[in-house]
Amino acid sequence: MRIFKSFFSSLIILSLISCSDIENESSIQVESPEKSNAVYFELSEKGQPQYWVKHNDKLIIDKSNLGFDFKNKNVFTEPFTIKNTKKISVDEEWEMPWGEQRTVRNNYNELKVELENNSKQLVNLYFRAYEDGVAFRYEIPQQGGLKSLIIDDENTEFQLTGNHTAWWIPGDWDIYEHLYSTTKVSEINAKSYADDDNLAQSHIPENAVNTPVTMRTDDGVHLSFHEANLTDYAGMTLKVDTTTFKLTSELVGSDRTNYKVYRNLPIKTPWRTLQIADEAKDLIDSRLIVNLNEPNKLGDIDWFTPQKYVGIWWEMHVDKATWDYGMTMNENGQWIDTGQAHGKHGATTENTKRYIDFAARNGIKGVLVEGWNTGWERWIGFQDREGVFDFVTPYPDYDIKELSDYAESKDVELIMHHETSAAPRTYEKQLDKAFQLMNDMGMHVVKTGYVGKIIPKGEYHHGHWMVKHYRKVLETAAKYKVAINAHEPIKATGIRRTYPNAVSREGLRGQEFNAWASDGGNPPEHLPIVAFTRMLAGPIDFTPGIFDIKLPTKPDNQINTTLAQQLALYVVLYSPIQMAADLPENYENQPAFQFIRDVGVDWEQSITLNGEVGDYVTIARQERKTGNWFIGGITDENDREITINFDFLEDGKTYEAKIYQDAENTHYKDNPTAITIKSTEIKKGSSKTFQLKEGGGFAISLIQKEK
Ligand code: NOJ
Ligand code: CA
Repeated sequence: MRIFKSFFSSLIILSLISCSDIENESSIQVESPEKSNAVYFELSEKGQPQYWVKHNDKLIIDKSNLGFDFKNKNVFTEPFTIKNTKKISVDEEWEMPWGEQRTVRNNYNELKVELENNSKQLVNLYFRAYEDGVAFRYEIPQQGGLKSLIIDDENTEFQLTGNHTAWWIPGDWDIYEHLYSTTKVSEINAKSYADDDNLAQSHIPENAVNTPVTMRTDDGVHLSFHEANLTDYAGMTLKVDTTTFKLTSELVGSDRTNYKVYRNLPIKTPWRTLQIADEAKDLIDSRLIVNLNEPNKLGDIDWFTPQKYVGIWWEMHVDKATWDYGMTMNENGQWIDTGQAHGKHGATTENTKRYIDFAARNGIKGVLVEGWNTGWERWIGFQDREGVFDFVTPYPDYDIKELSDYAESKDVELIMHHETSAAPRTYEKQLDKAFQLMNDMGMHVVKTGYVGKIIPKGEYHHGHWMVKHYRKVLETAAKYKVAINAHEPIKATGIRRTYPNAVSREGLRGQEFNAWASDGGNPPEHLPIVAFTRMLAGPIDFTPGIFDIKLPTKPDNQINTTLAQQLALYVVLYSPIQMAADLPENYENQPAFQFIRDVGVDWEQSITLNGEVGDYVTIARQERKTGNWFIGGITDENDREITINFDFLEDGKTYEAKIYQDAENTHYKDNPTAITIKSTEIKKGSSKTFQLKEGGGFAISLIQKEK
């Protein structure tokens, strides 16, 4: 009861009912407040916990088992009985310090089932029913005779009711940077991706998928499976039975320890989540994942400003510059300048000033600099990467103090970069020193990276050991007023609500693949899938805004979208930090760049206007502070017409609209940069139809006119 109370202390508990007359019923149920969704619980004849889910009175998850395999002997092996059940209803609002919207409603009914076996071993289950989905978690409370548990695996089942269409990436233990496949559940074949030559760090042991994984039933109901509040536990993949259409949790493991999770009691697992929507677009507006996380522990983080940023980054990906300077490591592990500098180093003082000037001229707050610190000569393809990066020593041609003063004088902030080369122990040793340097230099955002196989060998990016590492970085950063944008991260599970310094992350095939992937980059359907899958987890550092779409220095690659779509991505893909990823020279004299100057990054509200998974999506967002609206729409490889009714605008206001759209003859392959820019006035109630070309899109800024 004590844990229960402290955990919920900030919620408004409207009712607390203890059900004691359960003996007469075979199942207990909890319904969402408006009754769209219901979860049912019962014990099988053998005392095994089971649940099922209905959506609008129709079965959406059939009877499914709940349970674990433990290494501990004689733990939870006997049948359970129900000791007690409790229900609560919660209806509260909370404010996002930055986000897709200011105020979030958290409205659900919860059922707690307390289970016990003959040996008096205890497990509690929590089921929550929301209008936009359901969730449940296990709790193994403090109890006599049991101090810790070694979990071999969690066996949570999701018995699907049919052979749904699924949008999935393989259940890789190391990286989420895969293209999505669209197949029937019966055709999921994740292991065939293990040899993807773009992903040297892939590890896919089972026919499993990573989450969020999104599905559509034959009746047109949309489901997305994921997890919320992944804390001190292993990430979950879902093993797929292609004949019975059953998904079973498969936790990410470790070859070093031979178990998946080791925990002292009490244990609360992450929430197992299922977002349910009649229309695909409603998945995007669901806030289930953040609602299932604990409230903000950091208070006001006014030191972080949602921002656009540019950076010394794309020039390395298109081979115009390098991260490394050309140093040599001596036998003592020290980097020495032997005068071998090759002259292609990107992160020089002079080049950084050029980016700072560009940012200042265009009202862009942040400047990321990659390749500023020693170690890049040995960051990739080396077995021993411990101690290679130290996160505080700049290359000889990078004057960090001069640059931070220069940035400050221009009201610009440098963004730090910490590539760990997947050596987290080296990074942990240096965290305090590294963040202290950021404090000294007035820097508040760091992009972290974990390229390569994890050292020590046998650990995986998404396992328990690394989940703890990512959290340690986040918590330490918070102490130094530093926000994290993690690449090669653990998946987003809504932790940003509790730690709002978790501002963004990668965790998908980002823009960088368009520069160098041997398969030619992300196909046009990629982002219309991402919006309904990866984006349900949280903010994405995709790094949009490439204008030089044909990539002259990369003859085999190009961006597979039109220029208008690159603009639309600033609205479609949510992140409180958005990169203008192209080189400054590619933005000069480009009228389309005005959209990037204007577009907001922090929102009062967001509305997904339409969309189908893998085909198209349109999102409208209203900027905090100004009340201006921005709209982005994107399509896959098919051209299409999209009609927008502007009923969401404020009554009686006139908006100066600037519309950026594909031209008559635009095509992502042959003529991607042709764009039409028009200005007009728009009011609530107007409606307009837009032609999107193949791989295309449209972006609109709606600036309120003074009366
Ligand atoms: C991979 C990241 O995704 C990319 O953005 C970065 O430039 C490189 N790692 C180097 O850290
Ligand atoms: Ca990456």
